[in-house]
Amino acid sequence: MTLPKGLAGVPADTTSISDIDGERGELRYRGYSIADLVSHCSFLDVACLVLDGELPTPDSRREFERSLAQPRALPPAAADVLSRLPRETHPMTALQVVLPLLDDASAKSAPRLENRAAQREGLLAIAAKLPTTVAALARLRAGRTPLAPDPSLPIHADFLRMLRGEAPHPAEVATLDATQILQMEHGFNASTFTGRTVASTLCPLSMALSACVGALYGPLHGGADEAAYRMALSIGDPAKAPAWVDEQLAAKEKIMGLGHREYKVVDPRAVILKPMALELARLKGQEKVVETLIAVDEHAEKRFAEQGKRIRANVEFYKGAVFAALGIPPEFFTTLFAMARVFGWGAHMLELWDDHKLYRPAAVYTGAGPRTV
Ligand code: COA
Repeated sequence: MTLPKGLAGVPADTTSISDIDGERGELRYRGYSIADLVSHCSFLDVACLVLDGELPTPDSRREFERSLAQPRALPPAAADVLSRLPRETHPMTALQVVLPLLDDASAKSAPRLENRAAQREGLLAIAAKLPTTVAALARLRAGRTPLAPDPSLPIHADFLRMLRGEAPHPAEVATLDATQILQMEHGFNASTFTGRTVASTLCPLSMALSACVGALYGPLHGGADEAAYRMALSIGDPAKAPAWVDEQLAAKEKIMGLGHREYKVVDPRAVILKPMALELARLKGQEKVVETLIAVDEHAEKRFAEQGKRIRANVEFYKGAVFAALGIPPEFFTTLFAMARVFGWGAHMLELWDDHKLYRPAAVYTGAGPRTV
């Protein structure tokens, strides 16, 4: 019996949240293409769409906004744990540790499947606290005191203010909103599938979300953003990119941020991110990094084509350059991924609980036959 390794192409469950057409290079949330959503909708509208299935009405938008504004402050236990972690703790480790302490009463216990509203509220209360957590971690790591959230500000404006200690420019907030829309949801990716599996045991939502963070950290998944950015920094100049790519491929090393299991033509998120990254980097005088990334992408595409492979930049490739231009330290890039993907993860958990069944696949045993000691 031959099995597809890595479950490639194996349908594991149904979902109505997002749809990927790898051959056409398309991604849709609830039927809307991400290009359409990024051009016409706010971050909150898209989060609401992903979670609830429809774009909000003015009333439901106000309700959604309130749900993400009021519960931003960290519970004392979470703030205390954050302040006690060794300073060198990786932010993703810290996030995984503290996440189960971010939930309120409605999400603390095992989910009551009949009370979807309480689960949804619990999820939004956690999603509201992730930016506060990430900003607090960044300030503690820099030896500074965390700042309290300001619920009167939009979520990403408040995040950048808490992180940097000054109000961001509206253009920076708009770029962060767009980037976060692009990475909010993506089918049965490794962290979402992890989350669905853990949530299928009916554990509390916050513990399933904490497991998602662990999966997201890996360099083959979310961690590729930090790796791709550091790669561009170490190459240092677009002119050096072709030789570097050739060396990397000759050594059979992977280039982080290139390639995708699903997208065989192009990753539509990378197409949108590339010009955004270049524009923001130029504004901040950091264009050399993005130009180096573009040179790596273009040269690698040629080399891969010679080998008959269609491997292009994925969403991780240019994202780090956007985050760096926003003043986010590289080790925090993947925590911002979690801040956006939490809405996708949560939507999948609620979807699973709507038609609940424990995930428990079969294994094909290939070990020793029956024997005695
Ligand atoms: N650099 C160099 N070669 C790559 C590559 C990359 N980034 N991505 C894929 N390849 C090559 C592999 O070496 C392999 O070659 P081979 O058939 O000659 O052995 C072939 O393409 C298939 O790669 P594989 O890793 O088996 O395919 P996959 O479907 O599992 O790949 C990824 C998906 C994302 C794991 C893979 O492209 C990768 O590791 N990319 C880098 C990490 C990354 O950017 N992750 C973020 C994803 S959003």
